Amino acid sequence: MKADIGVIGLAVMGQNLILNMNDNGFKVVAFNRTVAKVDEFLEGPAKGTNIVGATSLEDLVSKLATPRKVMLMVRAGDVVDQFIDSLVPLLEEGDIIIDGGNTNYPDTNRRYASLREKGIRFIGAGVSGGEEGARFGPSIMPGGDPEAWPFVKPIFQGIAAKTEQGEACCDWVGKEGAGHFVKMVHNGIEYGDMQLISEAYHFMKEGLGLSADEMQAIFTEWNKTELDSYLVEITADILGYKDEDGEALVEKILDTAGQKGTGKWTGINALDHGIPLTLITDSVFARCLSSLKDQRVEAEKAFNNPILAIEGDKAQWVDALRQALLASKIISYAQGFMLIREASEENDWSLNYGNVALMWRGGCIIRSAFLGNIRDAFEANPELAFLGLDNYFKDILQSCLPAWRKVVAKSFETGLPMPCMSSALTFLNGYTTARLPANMLQAQRDYFGAHTYERTDKPRGEFFHTNWTGKGGDISSTTYDV
Ligand code: 6PG
Repeated sequence: MKADIGVIGLAVMGQNLILNMNDNGFKVVAFNRTVAKVDEFLEGPAKGTNIVGATSLEDLVSKLATPRKVMLMVRAGDVVDQFIDSLVPLLEEGDIIIDGGNTNYPDTNRRYASLREKGIRFIGAGVSGGEEGARFGPSIMPGGDPEAWPFVKPIFQGIAAKTEQGEACCDWVGKEGAGHFVKMVHNGIEYGDMQLISEAYHFMKEGLGLSADEMQAIFTEWNKTELDSYLVEITADILGYKDEDGEALVEKILDTAGQKGTGKWTGINALDHGIPLTLITDSVFARCLSSLKDQRVEAEKAFNNPILAIEGDKAQWVDALRQALLASKIISYAQGFMLIREASEENDWSLNYGNVALMWRGGCIIRSAFLGNIRDAFEANPELAFLGLDNYFKDILQSCLPAWRKVVAKSFETGLPMPCMSSALTFLNGYTTARLPANMLQAQRDYFGAHTYERTDKPRGEFFHTNWTGKGGDISSTTYDV
């Protein structure tokens, strides 16, 4: 019997996805560039399963049922192109190549277009959930050639995580690089969530002087509220993990954050689309700032700017902090969906925002109860421009606002850095202000560069220029926005 799918790349994600496919009744051929790894896998984790190995790409292709489905689980970048180039001459029209890596979506657009010309169907699928997700149920975000989807759907929906209602956390996202785009935004949101949780931890530790055990108990409690999520759950676990000397291990970890680029791509993309994705972008900058460790150590010595202790009832502060975290998280997701919406319209992807929330509901790193509410919001109103205007989320934002302001104000008063909680609040303040000071900005642009402005007492689209000093001319520069 020929195999259902071939998987190339036997690193941790590849191996676990293969085992998951096998558990779900699919026959898989495994291949790795260093062929010795195939034997190790077959003799190790894959022993006693239906998984078969391949000794070469030709061997892999010969073992597959048609249309052949070959999934690449290799490092994003040139390696993907190299495998595609080697596979194409071995495949037939209608066969399917899937890239399951963390690829930057413009690369997926390019590969999709070039393979389409060759009659090969291409899918770029975001896969989230780390090692455990891949093994027992990841979130999968496939996009690319819609004609390929019916062939891949049973496998992907079979191995994906399921919601409590039994729905697969995997559905067709859209054409071209839409799947990898949605995975990129997922990762941006992941960066935002992680930074927000880290800020809450910092506030409790440095501001309120709470111990790791106390914070573990607080995050455990928070995980029973609207904040119920994988990242809050693992934060509690991390705080409870003791090093050999009995101290919390987390306190011994160097405070410099790494990053592989997906959060940065999200921020760059938001700037390109003109979407105020402030929180995620600030979370990327927070990682950049953290990595300037030596400079920060010197600057702390040079400045007298210590973090001051926060006075008052600790339990009340902790509850205010919970509200600040929840409200900020809503803003982050609202901004993320603003970006998804803009990209969907610009690329003509017709993305279903409720489905995106469903795909993130389980299996992935940002999985949470909250995503069920986001799905409901977009199902009730698919045109919702700002998630914060959905009644459920609006009520939470409104009720959390006083506590959120108190927390952010206190962070400024005590010198505790909270870039994302404060950025989220600043965003909401701006978004809910009908008249911003951009009139002054426009006047300045017109003053020094004759860039023109619109007037509140004239219809939109009519542009005016004023000779502000009497010395300039009446000629205005062309009006265009990037
Ligand atoms: C996932 C994660 C994963 C990501 C890592 C590392 O969805 O399973 O997003 O894809 O690569 O978490 O990301 P950074 O190194 O950029 O933090």
